[in-house]
Amino acid sequence: MKITIIGTGYVGLVSGACFSEFGHEVICIDKDKDKISKLQSGTVPIYEPGLENIVQKNALEQRLKFDTDASKAVPWADTIFIAVGTPSSRRGDGYADLSFIYDAAREIAPLLTGYTLIVNKSTSPVGTARQVARIIRETNQDAHFDIASNPEFLREGAAINDFMKPDRVVIGVETEHAADVLKDVYKPLYLIETPIVQADIETA
Ligand SMILES: NC(=O)c1ccc[n+]([C@@H]2O[C@H](COP(=O)([O-])OP(=O)(O)OC[C@H]3O[C@@H](n4cnc5c(N)ncnc54)[C@H](O)[C@@H]3O)[C@@H](O)[C@H]2O)c1
Repeated sequence: MKITIIGTGYVGLVSGACFSEFGHEVICIDKDKDKISKLQSGTVPIYEPGLENIVQKNALEQRLKFDTDASKAVPWADTIFIAVGTPSSRRGDGYADLSFIYDAAREIAPLLTGYTLIVNKSTSPVGTARQVARIIRETNQDAHFDIASNPEFLREGAAINDFMKPDRVVIGVETEHAADVLKDVYKPLYLIETPIVQADIETA
C-alpha cells in the first residue's frame, strides 16, 4: 500500500518506519526542514531503541522517504495518516489544541485525487474526525475519501515494540471499505493474531 504520514514527530516517524517495515511504501511529511533533511541523510532526530535501524534499512530499500512538500505525496497515497501534535490549549483549560490537525486537513484537501482513506492518529476528542471530514468537504467538494480514527498508544522508549506487538489495534470507521483498508495496513499484525477492535468513528 502507499501511505503518507503528515507530521513526522514521535508518532509519525515510528508509525511511518514500522509501516515500511511491514512492506508498505511510505512517505513521511513534516514542515520542519531541518528534521526532514536529517532524516533524508539517515539521521534519526529522536532516540528510540531500534528505530534508526528500521529507518535506514527501509530508506535504503526505497520503501521509506521523507519530504517537506505534500503536493506529490498526498495524491500518490491510498491512505494518509495525520500524526501532528495536539498540545494542551494555551487557554489552560485542559483541552487539546486541535489547530494542527485542522490545518493539516486544509492542506491535504485540495491535493486529494482518487479514493483516499484519511486516518487521524493524533490524540483528539470525540468529534475531531467529523470536523476533519467537514473541512475536507468544504475545501474540495470533489474529494472522494473516507475518514477514520486510529489512536496511537505507544510509549516513548518502547515505541517499536509497542507498535509492532500491540495488545490491540483500535480503528474507528464509518464504512466497511475504510475498515478493510485499515486491516490491510495492519495485516502483518492481524496475521500474528493481534485483535483489531473496530468501533464507530466517534467512539474510537
Ligand atoms: N509521543 C508519544 O509518546 C505519543 C504517544 C501516543 C500518542 N501521541 C499523540 O500523537 C500525536 C503526535 O504526537 P508526537 O509526540 O508525535 O508530536 P510531535 O510534536 O513530536 O510531532 C508532531 C510533528 O508534526 C509536524 N507538523 C505539524 N503540523 C504539520 C503539518 N501541517 N504538516 C506537516 N507536519 C506538521 C511538526 O513539525 C512535528 O514534527 C499527538 O496527538 C500526541 O498526543 C503521542
